[in-house]
Amino acid sequence: TYWNVNQGEQRASAQDIAEAASLLRQGDTVAFPTETVYGLGADATNTEAVLQIFAAKGRPSDNPLIVHIADVTQLSGLVQSDSLTAYHQVLMKAFWPGPLTIVLPVRAGSLSPFVTAGLQTVGIRIPDHPVALQLLREAGLPIAAPSANSSGRPSPTLASHVRDDLDGKIGGIVDGGATGVGVESTVIQLVDGELYVLRPGGVTAEQLQEVLPDMHIHVAEPTEVEAADTPRAPGMKYTHYAPKGYMHIVQGDDELEVIAWIQRDIDAAKSRGESTGILTFEERVGGYRADLVVACGSLSQPETIARDLYAALRTFDHKGISYIVAEGVPDAGIGSAIMNRLLKAAGHERVIL
Ligand code: TXA
Ligand code: MG
Repeated sequence: TYWNVNQGEQRASAQDIAEAASLLRQGDTVAFPTETVYGLGADATNTEAVLQIFAAKGRPSDNPLIVHIADVTQLSGLVQSDSLTAYHQVLMKAFWPGPLTIVLPVRAGSLSPFVTAGLQTVGIRIPDHPVALQLLREAGLPIAAPSANSSGRPSPTLASHVRDDLDGKIGGIVDGGATGVGVESTVIQLVDGELYVLRPGGVTAEQLQEVLPDMHIHVAEPTEVEAADTPRAPGMKYTHYAPKGYMHIVQGDDELEVIAWIQRDIDAAKSRGESTGILTFEERVGGYRADLVVACGSLSQPETIARDLYAALRTFDHKGISYIVAEGVPDAGIGSAIMNRLLKAAGHERVIL
């Protein structure tokens, strides 16, 4: 795998971009940074290229891919133009480039049918990352790109995460440093004038409501989101983002009770011979004893929790932790996306005190 190393900088040289774009035009796969997570890109119009994404990730072929474009002018070639409403225009103006994927009726014949997994719709977004935008412009193609992890693993927020999962299976990696938002884009669809959040993500329901004050926004419960998130791959739904060890979530309103409960739980696991880990936040990291205690962002700034979440989940595997307890977060704002991913990672095992 060709790996361009920019030493963590949010930019790439013109030559790096040119090489990566030429790989994409030749039908090869290239991982690249976006503001959410690294994506594994391929020419969305080329079925052979798209099939390489599914092969490299071990992704079930009935789970559709998001298409990335550099500019709204590319949209008319990909979707049915009469499907774009004033609401869509408001959303695109407010959140593109950015972590919002909009599901629209696909224009027949414009994309490989494997991108949409046979659906009549396609999810599209313009990423807000200078390297992604440069690459998309230089390639001059709509680029299908799921997260650049092995299917079921935490999504990559560093180029090294991509290499850990996919080295030897893809054409190259463009390194643009740490991604920033840390959780994937929000996937939405407008149906009969109402807005459905199919996957919570970097744009919050509150932000959507702010730009469309009169819109009825359906935010599914986490279990319903599972079904909508991977509409035709229900078998995958409980293994996403999971560390290798057993993990469950503990949450409650009384901070001291939560800390005491988790410590007893961890001590009991330790005495059974488990290697123990706790996923918590900067404010609370000093209160715990375990083989590995990870401070994932700060409760006072939930966006830092989202930013650090997937890297934190990966550290438990690096240390061979077999029993993990994760603290939950309040289910508001970006917290909805964080809880959605944590619940998936924990196979929905949760204790509410
Ligand atoms: O932030 C992101 O969205 C990242 C970066 C790389 O852009 N991409 C990403 O892709 O997360 P992926 O493939 O890991 O997740 C795509 C999600 C899946 O849950 C898929 O089921 C849903 O979007 N999706 C894609 N097309 C859809 C469609 N036509 N209808 C409903 N859901 C769709
Ligand atoms: Mg993914």
